[in-house]
Amino acid sequence: MSSHFTLILDEAGTAWLTFDMADSPVNVLSQETLDALGEQIGVVEEQGAKALVIRSAKRGGFIAGANVKAFAGQDDADQVRAMIVDVHQLFERIERLPMPTVALIDGHCLGGGLELALACDYRVACDDPATRIGFPEVRLGIFPGFGGSVRALRVLGDVQALQVMLGGRTFSARAARNVGLVDRAVPRRQLDNTVAALLRDRPPLRQAGTIERLPSLPPVRPLLAWWLHRSVEKRAPRKHYPAPHALIDHWAKHARDEAALYRSEADRVSRLLVGDTAQNLIRVFLLQEQLKGLAQRGDGAPIKRVHVIGAGVMGGDIAAWCALRGLQVTLQDMSLEQLGRAMSRAGRLFKDKLKDRYAVQQAKDRLIADPAGHAVPQADLVLEAIVERADAKQGLFRDLEPRMKPDAVLATNTSSIPLEVLAEALVDPGRLVGLHFFNPVAKMQLVEVVTHPRLDEQVKARALGLVKAIGKLPLPVRSAPGFLVNRVLMPYLMEAVALLQEGVPAVLVDRAAVDFGMPMGPIELADTVGLDICQFVAEELAEQLHSEVPPVLREHVAAGHLGRKSGEGFYVWHNGKPKKPSPPRGYMAPHDLADRMMLRMINEAVGCLREEVVASADRLDAGVVYGTGFAPFRGGPMHYVQSQGAKVLENKLASLAQRHGDRFIADPGWGQSV
Ligand code: NAI
Repeated sequence: MSSHFTLILDEAGTAWLTFDMADSPVNVLSQETLDALGEQIGVVEEQGAKALVIRSAKRGGFIAGANVKAFAGQDDADQVRAMIVDVHQLFERIERLPMPTVALIDGHCLGGGLELALACDYRVACDDPATRIGFPEVRLGIFPGFGGSVRALRVLGDVQALQVMLGGRTFSARAARNVGLVDRAVPRRQLDNTVAALLRDRPPLRQAGTIERLPSLPPVRPLLAWWLHRSVEKRAPRKHYPAPHALIDHWAKHARDEAALYRSEADRVSRLLVGDTAQNLIRVFLLQEQLKGLAQRGDGAPIKRVHVIGAGVMGGDIAAWCALRGLQVTLQDMSLEQLGRAMSRAGRLFKDKLKDRYAVQQAKDRLIADPAGHAVPQADLVLEAIVERADAKQGLFRDLEPRMKPDAVLATNTSSIPLEVLAEALVDPGRLVGLHFFNPVAKMQLVEVVTHPRLDEQVKARALGLVKAIGKLPLPVRSAPGFLVNRVLMPYLMEAVALLQEGVPAVLVDRAAVDFGMPMGPIELADTVGLDICQFVAEELAEQLHSEVPPVLREHVAAGHLGRKSGEGFYVWHNGKPKKPSPPRGYMAPHDLADRMMLRMINEAVGCLREEVVASADRLDAGVVYGTGFAPFRGGPMHYVQSQGAKVLENKLASLAQRHGDRFIADPGWGQSV
């Protein structure tokens, strides 16, 4: 008997194959578990069971997908191809079993897990919020490779299947049923009955109808392929993200010829997997897992009650996010108006994210306005997000500390005041930790957990645990000017503004950064963040890091042109979108545009590593990718340095310093750790 599966034949003749991967909290399809699955299918074939049900013993998960760790570092496409062909054969054996087969999905069913489920005749999903079903492969730079790209077309129809695979998003059980990925979505208590009914009634297998398969006809196919390429190109340019385009080509070439589709899937996915983009995206994915792993279970009492002080842009949204994710939250502000605004924003967030009105009501009940701060003595963690002034924050801490539970954590969202300074106001400085959230809170995954020499380890662990519990990524950083993210972002933004000052049109500055792979150009980003906030952070850092703030930024702020929020910044904004004028005809942008911006960011990153603002190059890469959007397909700034060669980039910096000034002088860290 394999250690990953148990197989039980019940008296009705149904074989129940239960996946319970040894030594792992979740089930994944690794070489070992696939081999074990193959053996079990052999037993099922011999037993002559009347039906087969595949299910999982893991709480909250069917199968999380293929073993991504094994993909990292793969450079032999032929080897990958052979592995894929083996899986094709195994899943085909399952598909051809003479008895009806059911995948019973309770929890995550992603990637390879969904492909296995599609090889079964029927799919039954538990209608629970933990159930998420989908094909996230494109996010890792590949597309479904275990027969999924073939079976999805057959089951869902061409357009639906392509959209599901190209989008990479996951679906709830009910949404998956509506799309056609599963046959039934039922509450947990009805799962067994539903399986029994399917096995008894044996309804026809789900297959796309003639109309749903029309787009695969030769005259329509090229048109749809052209349209798909065009719409995908906008968010995933082919030169940076080849996978979705390869999927469209794969379909456009073979559409209904299943044998050819299987061959093409094995060829294309193996080549994509060993390519730079997939390898870098896999690296970023694994770094993200590493950050999540920093919060260990059992490290101090978990934080359940949070009291937030300051209901402005940040405090209000942090409080709402914590309540959304299940914590009991009280929110304090000296301005009732601010409190009111924050509470209505929270209501909109709950509606937006939760949809079900009971869940919305429950979230609202978890968030309580507390203008006088009565809840401070009950809170496990008090988070301060008031004005960015050391004296104001210190005064608040003096007042708070005697009222807090002895073991409660005190957290600050400061973006620029050293924690050592704030801790001076406390009797127990060890309880103060920085939790630096980014704006907009609901969208930004990263939270910098700011440490200082006197920080208590237990407090740090509890803070890391909280960040994980609310579904964000914790990055430990040392209390140093700008921490990590603002420190690397600011030189990049200021270089972009300096280029404007020199007369380079904003659209071209933005285009150069987007061409490098940034999700949004720096000028549009500055307008989105708010030019007043940029100026504030830039001035703080300019003083500490001896750099300059271009005058054109101050001029815009003085004129009230604050960016998107005021309707005009470097761009004019209309309905939340910037109007981007075309550059003057015949204008030639400087050839070193992208290098000037990107190398300033990378140079600063090297400095952060040298000063040990973060503990390792890997953590730095994860922080900069998740905190600034740094081109994920490049694997992070330090990985980019490695792939380009440190010497090459150092030489580029030297020639930029000659042409444009000292701000390009290479950080001493280039000679050491890089
Ligand atoms: P904000 O000005 O929008 O909100 C501050 C709120 O604190 C106001 O509602 C004010 O009434 C309230 N307040 C001030 N003193 C108070 C006191 N003693 N007791 C109770 N309430 C008080 O400020 P914002 O932008 O939300 O920033 C808050 C903190 O977050 C600052 O430390 C800032 O550096 C930091 N931060 C800001 C980011 C941003 O993008 N705005 C990003 C990351 C951190």
